[in-house]
Amino acid sequence: MSMDPQELLSLCKRRGFLWPAYDIYGGLAGLYDYGPLGAALKKNIEEHWRALYVLGEGFHEISCPIVAPEAVFKASGHTDAFSDMYVECTKCGETFRADHLVTGLHEAPASLDEKQLGRLLKENKVKCPSCGGELTDPKRFNLMFRTSVGAGKGKVAYLRPETAQGMFVNFSQVYRFGREKLPVGAVQIGRAFRNEISPRQGLIRLREFSQMEAELFLHPDHKSWPRYKDVKGQVLELVPNKGKPVKMTLEDAVKAKTIANEALAYFIWLTYKFAIDVGLDASKLRFRQHLEKEMAHYAADCWDLEADIGYGWTELVGIADRGSYDVQAHISHSGADLTAFERFDEPKEVEQQVVRPNFGALGPLFKGKAKQVADGLSKLHVGSVAGKDGVTVEVDGEMCSVPSSCYEVVLKKEKVSGRKLVPHVIEPSYGVDRILFSVLDHAYTQKDDYVTLRLKGLVAPIKAGVFPLMARDGLDEIAGAICNELTKAGLAAYYDDSGSIGRRYARMDEIGTPCCITVDYESKKDGKVTIRERDTAKQLRVEIAKVPRAVETLLSGGGLEPVSALR
Ligand code: GLY
Repeated sequence: MSMDPQELLSLCKRRGFLWPAYDIYGGLAGLYDYGPLGAALKKNIEEHWRALYVLGEGFHEISCPIVAPEAVFKASGHTDAFSDMYVECTKCGETFRADHLVTGLHEAPASLDEKQLGRLLKENKVKCPSCGGELTDPKRFNLMFRTSVGAGKGKVAYLRPETAQGMFVNFSQVYRFGREKLPVGAVQIGRAFRNEISPRQGLIRLREFSQMEAELFLHPDHKSWPRYKDVKGQVLELVPNKGKPVKMTLEDAVKAKTIANEALAYFIWLTYKFAIDVGLDASKLRFRQHLEKEMAHYAADCWDLEADIGYGWTELVGIADRGSYDVQAHISHSGADLTAFERFDEPKEVEQQVVRPNFGALGPLFKGKAKQVADGLSKLHVGSVAGKDGVTVEVDGEMCSVPSSCYEVVLKKEKVSGRKLVPHVIEPSYGVDRILFSVLDHAYTQKDDYVTLRLKGLVAPIKAGVFPLMARDGLDEIAGAICNELTKAGLAAYYDDSGSIGRRYARMDEIGTPCCITVDYESKKDGKVTIRERDTAKQLRVEIAKVPRAVETLLSGGGLEPVSALR
């Protein structure tokens, strides 16, 4: 049952999933701490994602710094285009995201510019939601956190607004590591930062958040993935940006160009699998294609996995075809050769654009170094000189500025064994915190006052509660030993000997623990304990020695029946 987000947040705070960060100093909007249960749930979600992408699909996991130099974001377009619009209340001074104030008044508020938004706000006489005061006209606000690195003036840098850029700038390293083949994928799990204008939605809009991002580098003409053929018959419900929502196979969706290519289709499917694995409710999920105007500055096509939660339909994952935008941008800005090499079956005579040094101009300018500068120029990719007044070339560790009079781009005919190409990128980008909150929302059930989080065994922070009926007579020792065995088997167990057994069950149900083990006086005689399954409240006696296997069996699904069959 989707629920009031405030009620879920309050359960999260009470039971140690989440706490507002730095609360004793009044906190700061958009920052949360994960308590022990939240940290464990987050880790389990991330581990499963890693298992799918790194172990399952063979992506290479890397880890890049959070702070990055300004040049990275000039190239990526973030310094120019990564902004939202805000309005300020002229009475109370509170700020609001302008597009959020026109939700329901326009089908795609995020696609409007300052003027259009301002007009819509005025026409609808929108006032400050807090005090009813007049609002200013919308203004743009860049969402990156700016900082400086080093003493004194330092160098301008930013906290990364996405983990993606670290992977784009490392394309050549990843490509080499992957034995110079396409497709090749990189992933990164880590923190990213956005100075959100008015984060009022708990974990859904954070200023510091976690992403799990994958960058699949592809040949521009072969946008597929080897396992596409295994899943192309799977049916998904799609909400395309033209026409009505449809249920169709991935293969039909690609053929009808509803989904742009097979690789995009495969990762939409993998995202669905991940969502179901971690316990999201299939009936409250949809894949929605971005409207053309809604796409980010880099995207050629983009599908969001959205979940229906207490806040309404919420984006959890974006799966974008970024074309060659990012890698090309870093080639143009850095001059680095971030290309892949496609070897032809037979050498071919081709006409291609190359950078040709102009020795007449280089000689007087660079004298003894002219030959080395010319060699550097010849190696440049044409994309890195296009539209520029000059370029920088490294000679003996020294950067030389070379004006455009020293080279030209010409067509050259030659026999070549292959060609350089700028890879295209498909990017599945997952917001960990939003996924975590949605998992909790979909797992939440309430009967009268009794709350159960039906978390799947895979993600549950605690896998089993272990209770001695009484904290004496050796029952406590048996329970303690069971806890140790569970922990040794890698199963997080929680020992609890206080209050009635019913109360102890309730505490475990409320935090999503899939099963509980009770040690009673009978256990001392028959060497067995009671295992209780959370969702059915069914119970079974199992031998103490089999408890870790019984818990593992229960966690993998199928209820108590397979547990009773354990030998
Ligand atoms: N890398 C895509 C995003 O962070 O939105």
